[in-house]
Amino acid sequence: MNKKLMGVGLLLFAVLVLSIPGAVVASDDEYEAYNLTIQPGSNETELNFTWFTATPTDIPQLVVCNEGGLKGGKCTNFASYYKGALRKGNHSKCMNYYEGEYEIVVVEDDTEIYACKVTMTNVKNNTKYTYVVGNGEIFSDIHKFDTQNKNNYNFIFVGDPQIGASRDEESDTAGWVETVTAALTNFENTSFILSAGDQVESSTSDSQYDGFFSPEELTSVPFAPAIGNHDTSELYAYHFNVSNEIVPDGSTDPLGYTNGGGDYWFTYGDTLFMVLNTNNSSALSHDEFMAQAIEANPTAKWRVVVFHHSIYSSARHVDDVNDLRTSMYPVIDQYDIDVVLSGHDHFYARTYQLSGGDVLDKACYTSTGRDGQEQTTCVDLIGEVAEEDLQYIGEGKVLNPEGTVYFTANSASGSKYYDFTYIEGYTNLYLAAYEQLETPTYLNVEVNRSTLTVSAYRVDTGERVDTYSIIKTDDFNRGHHHQGRSSLAKQ
Ligand SMILES: [Fe+2]
Repeated sequence: MNKKLMGVGLLLFAVLVLSIPGAVVASDDEYEAYNLTIQPGSNETELNFTWFTATPTDIPQLVVCNEGGLKGGKCTNFASYYKGALRKGNHSKCMNYYEGEYEIVVVEDDTEIYACKVTMTNVKNNTKYTYVVGNGEIFSDIHKFDTQNKNNYNFIFVGDPQIGASRDEESDTAGWVETVTAALTNFENTSFILSAGDQVESSTSDSQYDGFFSPEELTSVPFAPAIGNHDTSELYAYHFNVSNEIVPDGSTDPLGYTNGGGDYWFTYGDTLFMVLNTNNSSALSHDEFMAQAIEANPTAKWRVVVFHHSIYSSARHVDDVNDLRTSMYPVIDQYDIDVVLSGHDHFYARTYQLSGGDVLDKACYTSTGRDGQEQTTCVDLIGEVAEEDLQYIGEGKVLNPEGTVYFTANSASGSKYYDFTYIEGYTNLYLAAYEQLETPTYLNVEVNRSTLTVSAYRVDTGERVDTYSIIKTDDFNRGHHHQGRSSLAKQ
């Protein structure tokens, strides 16, 4: 076939395909996007897309179709439709495209890839979207996502998938895929997934990231990551597109920065999420960040803080977070945070409502070290239990509570579990619920105007193992709590 004839053939093919509703355009020249993921945007009207590709991509493009806006059609052939529309210079009403930026990254096998980031704006609630990513010429496979109701929503919280921690990436990946699928099957209208960090064991390992991003659901449900101690690499930062890092005047790094990124915030409906990078141990930096995030969102009904290193847990890392507990506790207390979500200890724990307090005492325990010698380890006690002042209105439900409840998630993949350490005077006084189940779990968090409920689920049986609700009446005001609380530390 000569060139001219081939051109005619292609044209005929295009006309035929475009005239068949719902036909998928096959092309040898496919755009290969991988490790494709969506992060929450600044608020629920934005979404941040991230992907890697080896296909040359000068201007990364995201093409999104609102299915509700397509008359009687589906968006299955919209990539070519979009290109046709572009040529004609008019865009379909239901379709939008967004341009972003890329950076060249040299990955493990020394090949250069394009790490692409694009922000979608004007995202509507309760809407079905279809999308492709590409370079303006060729496009990826077609993906879908549904948006939810921001006023009455749920998100999934996971701890430490840490793909590769068991030294068997395949089984860690299988466990992670199973957890994501179970959580999103059980809660199919989930708005996003929040992770306490340690996405992978080695944050320079391409194969571990491939495992981590292998759940297909991660191309349709936004994923908000905290930076764990295993996530501190530049490669990590290329993989995620987070919103609202805060770079102070005169600095080039955002507050809370270490390799991998800084603190960031986003809102969803009436909730302010502040995700801290506690690899940076400067409480001053996190304090400044939280002050600014709250200043930008003063009326948010709920304040949720997320960071990797749990300061209230009772397994292997119970004592090595003494400094972080001492420095971060007053900051969390100062800003009247409702819920703190963490990981790192690979153990499930929920505290009582904690409020106020100074380091006045220690709880110590003796164990046998690796060298066979007995060793004494102490946990600094800080944070007073507000239990006496709590008004319970049913099992696990508190009304207008003082202080903050802290949750630690266990492993979401099963790659590693840490042994429970009972410490008299700590575990029994601070932790209201705790267990080493030695099976993958996840938390589901339901949020509406009056209630925030956190429940923990086993992946294997689907059983709910714990649930806790905070109910706030409309007249509840923040900051009324510095009075009349019980005093744990002084007992
Ligand atoms: Fe960790």
